[in-house]
Amino acid sequence: MTAPKKVKSTKKEKNINANKAFFDRWSKTYDSLGIRFWMRRFQVPALREIQFNSEIKILDLSCGTGELLQELYNRDKRKIKLYGLDVSGKMLEVARKKLPSQVTLVKGDVHSLPFGSEEFDYVLCTEAFHHYYSQSRAIAEMKRVLKSSGKIIIVDVNFFLPPVHWLFQKIEPGCVKINNKREVRLLFRKNGVKVIKQQRNFLFAIMTIGQKEEKEIRT
Ligand SMILES: C[S@@+](CC[C@H](N)C(=O)[O-])C[C@H]1O[C@@H](n2cnc3c(N)ncnc32)[C@H](O)[C@@H]1O
Repeated sequence: MTAPKKVKSTKKEKNINANKAFFDRWSKTYDSLGIRFWMRRFQVPALREIQFNSEIKILDLSCGTGELLQELYNRDKRKIKLYGLDVSGKMLEVARKKLPSQVTLVKGDVHSLPFGSEEFDYVLCTEAFHHYYSQSRAIAEMKRVLKSSGKIIIVDVNFFLPPVHWLFQKIEPGCVKINNKREVRLLFRKNGVKVIKQQRNFLFAIMTIGQKEEKEIRT
C-alpha cells in the first residue's frame, strides 16, 4: 500500500495560515496600552483624511480589534456606514465586543473581497499592507470595491533601512514585504489607481492616498 500523498500548501495558504495563527494569538493582548499607542500612529493620519460632511460608506481592511472603526463610529454615527474585514477570527471577536451592531464585521481575505464593485467612499488599511501575499492583487480589490469618487488610504510601516525590513520579513510571522514610498506608488499605478498624496507620518509610517479618477475630488 502506498502512503497517502502529502499535499503541499501554497505560498498563499502558508501566508494566510501564518497571519491567522499570529493574530489569533496576539488578539488577547493587542489592545494593551503600548500596542494601542503604536497603532494609533498609523490610524490618526488616515482619520484626518476623511471628510465627515456627507453620508459615507467606509471599509476598514484588516481592521484587527476595531480601534479605528470605533473612533470612526464615535465621530459621526448617523452619517457613516462602517464595515471591517479581517482574516483573524479572534481579532474580530475582540472588535465585535466593543463595536455596536450597526458596524458590519466580516471574516475574509483582502485578496478576494466579499463586496460588490463601487460600494465604498473610503477603503482604509492601517499597519497591515506588509502582511499581504499579493499586494498588487489587494490593491486591485480595493480599487474594485471603491466608488469612482472614493479614496484608498493605506498607512503602513517603513523603517528607512532595507536590512531592518529584511529582518522583519524574516522574523515577523505573516510579514511579506515592507515597501518604500516608490514601491507603493508603483503598485497603485500598476493597478490604475492615481496617487494623489504620499507622505511620511511620524517617523515610521508612510501614508499613500489614491483614487480612481484623475482630478482630486475631496481634500
Ligand atoms: C498589525 S494588525 C493591524 C490591525 C489594525 N488595522 C490596526 O491598525 O490596529 C494586521 C492585521 O492584518 C490582518 N491580516 C493579515 N493578512 C490579512 C489578509 N490576507 N486579509 C485580511 N486581513 C489580514 C491580521 O489578521 C491583523 O488583524
